Amino acid sequence: MSEVDNNLTWHAHHVTKHARKKFHKQYPAIIWLTGLSGSGKSSIANALDVLLFEANHNTFLLDGDNVRQGLNKDLGFSDADRVENIRRIGEVSKLFCDSGALVITAFISPFIEDRALVRALVEKDEFVEVFVDTSLEVCENRDPKGLYKKARSGEIPNFSGISSPYEAPKNAEIVVKTENKTEQECAQEIVDYLRKEGYLDA
Ligand code: ADX
Repeated sequence: MSEVDNNLTWHAHHVTKHARKKFHKQYPAIIWLTGLSGSGKSSIANALDVLLFEANHNTFLLDGDNVRQGLNKDLGFSDADRVENIRRIGEVSKLFCDSGALVITAFISPFIEDRALVRALVEKDEFVEVFVDTSLEVCENRDPKGLYKKARSGEIPNFSGISSPYEAPKNAEIVVKTENKTEQECAQEIVDYLRKEGYLDA
């Protein structure tokens, strides 16, 4: 036990992160996909999850649309709610990372500052930012959920890229250009990076 603050005490766990690394034979990390709605985040995240899982890695996938139907169902799409959305996801991702998992997240996460706060929650090298770089034009043409049409007509306010800002990463570890590529090819690029950097072999 250490550091008493506000009458709370941090309890050090006996099963250490090092022991979990050895057990899972991998370096835990948060693989944070950011990009516009319709950019391909969820599909690539799913394909990545499958590739890693089939290679016997311990993974877990957190996805915006799903988490917003549970843990974050009290949040909307104002700037303040998006900040809180990402703050909570950051904390949850950190817990999964501490459990030894390779955590894959798929959230628009439109603000640079919020992504930096999540990065700061974990150790250096435990945060891998992946910019799913699909232009607004292509996302809008794809419009898989019909949301851009509704955003343009004003039916959905505060829509990312249309009536709410999206701040692209400046120094992401990985930039995935999705146009003319399958989601499997995009996911494979991420696996190649993780292998090269030693995440898949602890
Ligand atoms: S974030 O901005 O707070 O990171 P998050 O990734 O959780 O967003 O949720 C985005 C998903 O919510 C989109 O894929 C879309 O399906 C849905 N959505 C509903 N309203 C909006 C909106 N105003 N802006 C963006 N996405 C929206």
